[in-house]
Amino acid sequence: MARALHPPVAARLGDVSTERLDMLRLRPEHAEALTPIFAEPAVWEFPYGRGLTASETDDFARRRADEWRDRGFGCWLLVERATGRALGYAGLIVPVFLPEVLPAIEVGWRLDPAAWGRGYATEAGRRALDEAFRKLGLPEVCSIIQPQNVGSIRVAERLGLTCRRAATVPASGVRPPLPVGVYAIRRDEWPPPAPRVPPPGRPRPGRARRAGSTS
Ligand SMILES: CC(C)(COP(=O)(O)OP(=O)(O)OC[C@H]1O[C@@H](n2cnc3c(N)ncnc32)[C@H](O)[C@@H]1OP(=O)(O)O)[C@@H](O)C(=O)NCCC(=O)NCCS
Repeated sequence: MARALHPPVAARLGDVSTERLDMLRLRPEHAEALTPIFAEPAVWEFPYGRGLTASETDDFARRRADEWRDRGFGCWLLVERATGRALGYAGLIVPVFLPEVLPAIEVGWRLDPAAWGRGYATEAGRRALDEAFRKLGLPEVCSIIQPQNVGSIRVAERLGLTCRRAATVPASGVRPPLPVGVYAIRRDEWPPPAPRVPPPGRPRPGRARRAGSTS
Protein backbone atom coordinates (compact mmCIF):
# COMPACT_ATOMS: atom_id res chain seq x y z
CA MET A 1 0.00 0.00 0.00
CA ALA A 2 1.27 3.53 -0.80
CA ARG A 3 2.63 5.40 2.20
CA ALA A 4 0.24 8.10 3.52
CA LEU A 5 1.38 11.65 2.76
CA HIS A 6 -0.13 13.11 5.92
CA PRO A 7 -1.49 11.87 9.27
CA PRO A 8 -5.24 11.19 9.42
CA VAL A 9 -7.34 14.32 10.04
CA ALA A 10 -10.47 14.48 12.20
CA ALA A 11 -12.40 17.16 10.28
CA ARG A 12 -12.58 19.33 7.17
CA LEU A 13 -11.61 22.96 7.78
CA GLY A 14 -13.34 26.07 6.43
CA ASP A 15 -12.81 29.82 6.16
CA VAL A 16 -11.70 31.32 9.49
CA SER A 17 -10.86 34.73 10.88
CA THR A 18 -8.57 36.36 13.43
CA GLU A 19 -8.58 39.73 15.11
CA ARG A 20 -7.41 41.52 11.95
CA LEU A 21 -7.66 38.96 9.15
CA ASP A 22 -10.19 37.00 7.16
CA MET A 23 -8.65 33.72 6.07
CA LEU A 24 -10.34 32.32 2.96
CA ARG A 25 -9.75 28.83 1.56
CA LEU A 26 -7.63 29.45 -1.54
CA ARG A 27 -9.59 29.30 -4.79
CA PRO A 28 -8.40 29.63 -8.41
CA GLU A 29 -9.85 33.17 -8.68
CA HIS A 30 -7.58 34.32 -5.83
CA ALA A 31 -4.69 34.16 -8.32
CA GLU A 32 -5.62 37.65 -9.49
CA ALA A 33 -4.92 39.16 -6.05
CA LEU A 34 -1.82 37.02 -5.52
CA THR A 35 -0.17 37.72 -8.91
CA PRO A 36 1.35 41.15 -8.05
CA ILE A 37 2.41 39.85 -4.60
CA PHE A 38 4.04 36.69 -5.95
CA ALA A 39 5.81 38.69 -8.70
CA GLU A 40 7.97 40.31 -5.98
CA PRO A 41 11.32 38.43 -5.85
CA ALA A 42 11.45 38.81 -2.03
CA VAL A 43 8.26 36.78 -1.66
CA TRP A 44 9.75 33.69 -3.33
CA GLU A 45 13.42 34.31 -2.55
CA PHE A 46 13.17 31.11 -0.51
CA PRO A 47 13.28 28.69 -2.27
CA TYR A 48 13.37 30.02 -5.87
CA GLY A 49 15.35 33.27 -5.69
CA ARG A 50 12.86 34.97 -8.04
CA GLY A 51 9.22 36.05 -8.26
CA LEU A 52 6.52 33.94 -9.92
CA THR A 53 4.96 34.63 -13.30
CA ALA A 54 1.19 35.12 -13.60
CA SER A 55 0.78 31.64 -15.03
CA GLU A 56 2.81 30.09 -12.18
CA THR A 57 0.56 31.93 -9.71
CA ASP A 58 -2.56 30.64 -11.53
CA ASP A 59 -1.14 27.15 -11.25
CA PHE A 60 -0.34 27.66 -7.55
CA ALA A 61 -3.91 28.79 -6.75
CA ARG A 62 -5.43 25.93 -8.74
CA ARG A 63 -3.29 23.33 -6.95
CA ARG A 64 -4.11 24.79 -3.54
CA ALA A 65 -7.85 24.67 -4.38
CA ASP A 66 -7.48 21.01 -5.42
CA GLU A 67 -5.82 20.29 -2.06
CA TRP A 68 -8.76 21.82 -0.19
CA ARG A 69 -11.13 19.62 -2.21
CA ASP A 70 -9.08 16.43 -1.75
CA ARG A 71 -7.80 16.85 1.84
CA GLY A 72 -10.15 19.25 3.67
CA PHE A 73 -7.26 21.47 4.79
CA GLY A 74 -4.83 23.75 3.01
CA CYS A 75 -3.75 27.36 2.55
CA TRP A 76 -5.88 30.41 3.20
CA LEU A 77 -5.79 33.74 1.35
CA LEU A 78 -5.12 36.38 4.02
CA VAL A 79 -7.35 39.43 3.69
CA GLU A 80 -6.82 42.48 5.90
CA ARG A 81 -10.34 43.05 7.21
CA ALA A 82 -9.92 46.82 7.71
CA THR A 83 -9.05 47.43 4.03
CA GLY A 84 -10.23 44.31 2.15
CA ARG A 85 -6.66 44.02 0.80
CA ALA A 86 -5.16 40.58 0.08
CA LEU A 87 -1.83 40.18 1.92
CA GLY A 88 -0.63 36.72 0.85
CA TYR A 89 -1.32 33.28 2.25
CA ALA A 90 -0.75 31.08 5.27
CA GLY A 91 -1.83 27.56 5.94
CA LEU A 92 -1.32 23.85 6.29
CA ILE A 93 0.68 22.11 3.60
CA VAL A 94 1.90 18.54 3.01
CA PRO A 95 5.70 18.90 2.60
CA VAL A 96 6.02 16.46 -0.31
CA PHE A 97 9.29 18.18 -1.28
CA LEU A 98 10.94 16.55 1.80
CA PRO A 99 9.82 12.90 1.60
CA GLU A 100 11.83 11.85 4.68
CA VAL A 101 9.43 13.74 7.03
CA LEU A 102 6.23 12.22 5.57
CA PRO A 103 3.57 11.57 6.71
CA ALA A 104 3.46 15.20 7.92
CA ILE A 105 1.69 18.54 7.75
CA GLU A 106 3.60 21.81 7.86
CA VAL A 107 2.49 25.33 8.70
CA GLY A 108 3.65 28.00 6.25
CA TRP A 109 3.23 31.69 5.36
CA ARG A 110 4.12 34.02 2.50
CA LEU A 111 3.16 37.68 2.62
CA ASP A 112 3.38 40.88 0.58
CA PRO A 113 6.55 42.72 1.74
CA ALA A 114 4.32 45.80 2.25
CA ALA A 115 2.63 43.84 5.07
CA TRP A 116 5.78 42.55 6.81
CA GLY A 117 6.64 43.72 10.32
CA ARG A 118 3.05 43.98 11.52
CA GLY A 119 2.57 40.54 13.01
CA TYR A 120 0.18 39.27 10.32
CA ALA A 121 2.15 36.08 9.58
CA THR A 122 2.31 35.23 13.28
CA GLU A 123 -1.43 35.97 13.69
CA ALA A 124 -2.36 33.76 10.72
CA GLY A 125 0.13 31.04 11.68
CA ARG A 126 -1.32 30.93 15.19
CA ARG A 127 -4.80 30.42 13.78
CA ALA A 128 -3.55 27.73 11.39
CA LEU A 129 -1.90 25.86 14.30
CA ASP A 130 -5.07 26.17 16.37
CA GLU A 131 -7.04 24.58 13.53
CA ALA A 132 -4.37 21.89 13.14
CA PHE A 133 -4.36 20.84 16.80
CA ARG A 134 -7.95 21.54 17.90
CA LYS A 135 -9.91 20.58 14.77
CA LEU A 136 -7.68 18.25 12.72
CA GLY A 137 -6.35 16.61 15.92
CA LEU A 138 -2.78 16.40 14.59
CA PRO A 139 -0.11 15.05 16.96
CA GLU A 140 2.55 17.40 15.54
CA VAL A 141 2.99 20.18 12.96
CA CYS A 142 6.32 20.98 11.31
CA SER A 143 7.75 23.87 9.32
CA ILE A 144 10.62 23.35 6.87
CA ILE A 145 12.74 26.50 6.74
CA GLN A 146 16.01 27.46 5.04
CA PRO A 147 18.54 28.67 7.62
CA GLN A 148 18.97 32.02 5.83
CA ASN A 149 15.23 32.75 6.10
CA VAL A 150 15.48 34.54 9.42
CA GLY A 151 12.06 36.23 9.10
CA SER A 152 10.35 32.88 8.78
CA ILE A 153 12.40 31.34 11.60
CA ARG A 154 11.34 34.20 13.87
CA VAL A 155 7.67 33.59 13.06
CA ALA A 156 8.06 29.84 13.71
CA GLU A 157 9.87 30.39 17.02
CA ARG A 158 7.34 33.01 18.12
CA LEU A 159 4.67 30.34 17.58
CA GLY A 160 6.57 27.86 19.74
CA LEU A 161 8.15 25.69 17.05
CA THR A 162 11.72 24.60 17.70
CA CYS A 163 14.38 23.29 15.36
CA ARG A 164 14.51 19.51 15.72
CA ARG A 165 17.18 18.74 13.12
CA ALA A 166 18.81 19.69 9.84
CA ALA A 167 17.84 18.06 6.53
CA THR A 168 18.35 18.52 2.80
CA VAL A 169 15.46 19.01 0.38
CA PRO A 170 16.28 17.01 -2.77
CA ALA A 171 16.80 19.01 -5.99
CA SER A 172 13.76 19.56 -8.21
CA GLY A 173 13.65 20.67 -11.86
CA VAL A 174 13.56 24.33 -10.76
CA ARG A 175 16.02 24.46 -7.84
CA PRO A 176 19.17 22.79 -6.44
CA PRO A 177 19.21 20.68 -3.22
CA LEU A 178 18.46 22.93 -0.24
CA PRO A 179 19.73 22.64 3.34
CA VAL A 180 16.82 23.28 5.71
CA GLY A 181 15.90 23.15 9.38
CA VAL A 182 12.99 20.91 10.39
CA TYR A 183 11.04 22.94 12.97
CA ALA A 184 8.14 21.35 14.84
CA ILE A 185 5.66 21.65 17.67
CA ARG A 186 3.66 18.84 19.31
CA ARG A 187 0.03 19.09 20.34
CA ASP A 188 1.01 18.92 24.04
CA GLU A 189 3.23 22.00 23.52
CA TRP A 190 0.34 24.08 22.07
CA PRO A 191 -0.38 26.87 22.79
CA PRO A 192 3.08 28.04 23.90
CA PRO A 193 3.35 30.41 26.86
CA ALA A 194 2.75 34.04 25.82
CA PRO A 195 6.02 35.74 24.81
CA ARG A 196 7.51 37.96 27.48
CA VAL A 197 6.89 41.63 26.75
CA PRO A 198 9.83 43.89 27.66
CA PRO A 199 8.98 46.54 30.27
CA PRO A 200 8.00 49.90 28.74
CA GLY A 201 10.86 52.25 27.90
CA ARG A 202 13.45 49.51 27.44
CA PRO A 203 14.55 48.83 23.84
CA ARG A 204 13.82 45.32 22.52
CA PRO A 205 16.87 43.14 21.81
CA GLY A 206 18.10 43.69 18.26
CA ARG A 207 15.97 46.78 17.83
CA ALA A 208 18.07 49.25 19.86
CA ARG A 209 18.47 52.53 18.07
CA ARG A 210 22.01 53.02 16.81
CA ALA A 211 23.99 55.84 18.36
CA GLY A 212 23.73 58.88 16.12
CA SER A 213 20.63 57.55 14.31
CA THR A 214 18.22 60.32 13.45
CA SER A 215 15.32 58.18 12.24
C1 LIG B 1 8.33 35.08 6.65
C2 LIG B 1 7.47 36.32 6.67
C3 LIG B 1 6.02 35.95 6.52
C4 LIG B 1 7.70 37.05 8.01
O1 LIG B 1 7.03 38.27 7.99
P1 LIG B 1 7.07 39.21 9.29
O2 LIG B 1 6.34 40.43 8.92
O3 LIG B 1 8.48 39.33 9.79
O4 LIG B 1 6.29 38.33 10.35
P2 LIG B 1 5.04 38.78 11.17
O5 LIG B 1 3.97 39.17 10.21
O6 LIG B 1 4.68 37.77 12.13
O7 LIG B 1 5.55 40.09 11.89
C5 LIG B 1 6.46 39.98 12.94
C6 LIG B 1 7.13 41.30 13.12
O8 LIG B 1 6.14 42.31 13.23
C7 LIG B 1 6.26 42.99 14.49
N1 LIG B 1 4.88 43.32 14.89
C8 LIG B 1 4.32 44.53 14.70
N2 LIG B 1 3.04 44.52 15.12
C9 LIG B 1 2.80 43.29 15.61
C10 LIG B 1 1.66 42.66 16.19
N3 LIG B 1 0.52 43.31 16.35
N4 LIG B 1 1.76 41.36 16.56
C11 LIG B 1 2.91 40.67 16.39
N5 LIG B 1 4.03 41.22 15.84
C12 LIG B 1 3.97 42.51 15.45
C13 LIG B 1 6.98 42.01 15.39
O9 LIG B 1 7.67 42.64 16.41
C14 LIG B 1 7.93 41.33 14.41
O10 LIG B 1 9.06 42.11 14.15
P3 LIG B 1 10.52 41.53 14.47
O11 LIG B 1 10.61 40.15 13.87
O12 LIG B 1 11.42 42.51 13.82
O13 LIG B 1 10.61 41.49 15.94
C15 LIG B 1 7.86 37.26 5.52
O14 LIG B 1 9.19 37.63 5.67
C16 LIG B 1 7.65 36.62 4.17
O15 LIG B 1 6.54 36.55 3.66
N6 LIG B 1 8.76 36.15 3.56
C17 LIG B 1 8.73 35.58 2.22
C18 LIG B 1 8.04 34.25 2.17
C19 LIG B 1 8.75 33.17 2.95
O16 LIG B 1 9.97 33.10 2.95
N7 LIG B 1 7.95 32.34 3.58
C20 LIG B 1 8.43 31.27 4.39
C21 LIG B 1 8.87 30.10 3.60
S1 LIG B 1 9.54 28.84 4.72
